[in-house]
Amino acid sequence: MKKNFLNLGKQPIANSFLSSISKKSLKNEYFYRLIICFDTKNFLVSVKNPVNPKIQYTDKYAHRASESQTMRKAFKSAAKKLQKRFKPRKVMEIGSNDGVFLKNFPKKKVIAVEPCKNLANLTKKKFKTYPNFWNKKLSNKISKKHSKVDLIFSSNTISHIPNLKESFEAINNILSDRGVLVIEDPSLSSVIKINSYDQFYDEHVYVFSALSISNIVKNYQLKLFDVEKISNHGGSLRYFITKKKNPFKITSRLNKIINEEKKQGLNNFATFKKFAKKVEKSKQKLVALLTKLKKKNKKIISYGATYKSTTVFNYCKIDNKFFHYVTDTTKNKQGKFTPGMHIPILSPEKGFNESVDYAYLGAWNFKKEIMNKEKDYLKRGGRFITHVPQVRIIK
Ligand code: TMP
Repeated sequence: MKKNFLNLGKQPIANSFLSSISKKSLKNEYFYRLIICFDTKNFLVSVKNPVNPKIQYTDKYAHRASESQTMRKAFKSAAKKLQKRFKPRKVMEIGSNDGVFLKNFPKKKVIAVEPCKNLANLTKKKFKTYPNFWNKKLSNKISKKHSKVDLIFSSNTISHIPNLKESFEAINNILSDRGVLVIEDPSLSSVIKINSYDQFYDEHVYVFSALSISNIVKNYQLKLFDVEKISNHGGSLRYFITKKKNPFKITSRLNKIINEEKKQGLNNFATFKKFAKKVEKSKQKLVALLTKLKKKNKKIISYGATYKSTTVFNYCKIDNKFFHYVTDTTKNKQGKFTPGMHIPILSPEKGFNESVDYAYLGAWNFKKEIMNKEKDYLKRGGRFITHVPQVRIIK
């Protein structure tokens, strides 16, 4: 049975940055109700009413995985580790974005699947790219052409596809008998621990745990045999899955993580009700802090036009009365306006200057990288604001 625990209100599509805020474009802006629920049977946490993927993954998709140094390094290291452990002959990635992971393998070995045409166009000259949504039809087409695949990788993508049955059946169809599926997604355990409620937005249809993944894959003749904690996006899990019939041993670290999750109560609805209360408090504290700083005439901006901040801005009703603008290094976000709250986005060169007193960390998941880069800002008295793990000013 699915039970609702968190209502994040009326939300726009998180990646839908607006080119103009004319009456006409505002009239066409898409909104939906972001409600999060818990399945008491398989312990899966999900968005109650997922948005149609065709509205989300278009040829204007803004996110470039290569944009941060942290992620470039993380994908390079993942590729190296997986190559060493599984020695795959063929690697396929579902949701290959701008190729930041696959570029670490010889190009003859790789197959990319990426439905956003603007991103698929970036990689199609470098390696075989299918500009399509992941489903059984595509998996049949690829397996006919390239035969079976022994390593399937998917980072921050399986959790984005509403139809888990179709995703896993399509995977099972193309995975070689001894093949391994490796998926990475933000971990539910971390979301609850650090109160990162902004991991919930339209694209994150699911926030997985080892408990829920192990239950789900069983339905598709697959099994979870290992899991690894990784630091991506404030704490993620890397799941290792293979066909049920394979004699791969269940690792002790998987058992350990499952036990930790049970101890944390990720199999218990009461945990999520408690979390929802913390989220409400976080909202009140953030709005109170920004209001206090505004009263003192401080100039506040937001650092990183992330999808996560779309949730925060729209849930907390933070608009350009609070933030002068948002800065972001991604070229195709600059000059646009944030979804729902319509705050202008500038390049850091234009916006991150002497006039800024406070910068809200929209990209809190890259805190270390940003603190390193912005030492001078901090030295001259500039301050960051964050809401994870709690609302506070970073000096
Ligand atoms: P993400 O959290 O969805 O990966 O997005 C991070 C966004 O933050 C992305 O648009 C790039 C931006 N960003 C900056 O503007 N400056 C930075 O220093 C970093 C690390 C990211």
